[in-house]
Amino acid sequence: MSSKFHQILSYIKHYFVAHRRGHGVHSPFAYQLCEEVFYNKHPFYAFEQLEKLREQLLQDESLINMEDYGSGSQVFKAKQRKVKDIAIHGISTKLQSELLFRLMNFMHSEKALELGTSLGLNTLYMAMSNSNTKVISIDACEDLVEHAKAMAHKQKVDHIQFIHAKFDEALPQLISQSSKIDFVYIDGNHSYAASMQYFDSLLEIVQNNTVLVFDDIYWSKDMTKAWEEIKAHPKVKLSIDTFYSGFIFFKEEIKEKLQYQFFL
Ligand SMILES: C[S@@+](CC[C@H](N)C(=O)[O-])C[C@H]1O[C@@H](n2cnc3c(N)ncnc32)[C@H](O)[C@@H]1O
Repeated sequence: MSSKFHQILSYIKHYFVAHRRGHGVHSPFAYQLCEEVFYNKHPFYAFEQLEKLREQLLQDESLINMEDYGSGSQVFKAKQRKVKDIAIHGISTKLQSELLFRLMNFMHSEKALELGTSLGLNTLYMAMSNSNTKVISIDACEDLVEHAKAMAHKQKVDHIQFIHAKFDEALPQLISQSSKIDFVYIDGNHSYAASMQYFDSLLEIVQNNTVLVFDDIYWSKDMTKAWEEIKAHPKVKLSIDTFYSGFIFFKEEIKEKLQYQFFL
């Protein structure tokens, strides 16, 4: 089955089975997430500034030298891409980035990690969710990291550490040094083996408040297989599937494993 067909079929399934708003969500914590994070439409102070930045990226004709270390783009094959084309096809949407912002704000996340910086707009959303949240963002493409750094500098956001490296090289070192990472957004190298490897390594630093977010869980059959295995892991207490991303929570107070699908 092709990845496109898998995506369409999975979306149709999601459309019919997913919860709408908080209907049928009985866990108090998950219900609170529905109300305050997933279905909350209230705009935060930073959203206007960040969407203006997205508008600028969508018109930016400058070229980025691409190095693809992931499982490959389903849209691009060229070595150079315009910033505006990456902004259309290669970064998180307004809905996804605002959701991450709200979730980090709600969870009072103190130290976040993003695997896959790209242009760095989503990194800014994460960093601006709380003024004292530290964000580390990793990407193997040097031009993208430089672009993201310059954009953060221009916005006067200085609590982001950008790392130019492959995930496999940077992650073990970060995990051994920074046990306090409590929010991780995994948005690159979308393959079964890589997703399972990142999940297994991150389990070492998981605490009660930790959130792991896996992007593109229906990107391919392999990614969906990884998502199914991750949410079935005994340490995982709550999983929320929005079709675009999968959210994993480890809260000890949730006694019976909960799995929800939300239609956003
Ligand atoms: C989908 S983009 C990230 C989008 C960004 N997080 C956002 O929300 O806008 C994926 C990025 O991951 C990077 N990447 C993929 N595989 C990687 C690897 N193995 N090591 C480091 N970076 C990788 C690519 O260079 C690309 O910029």
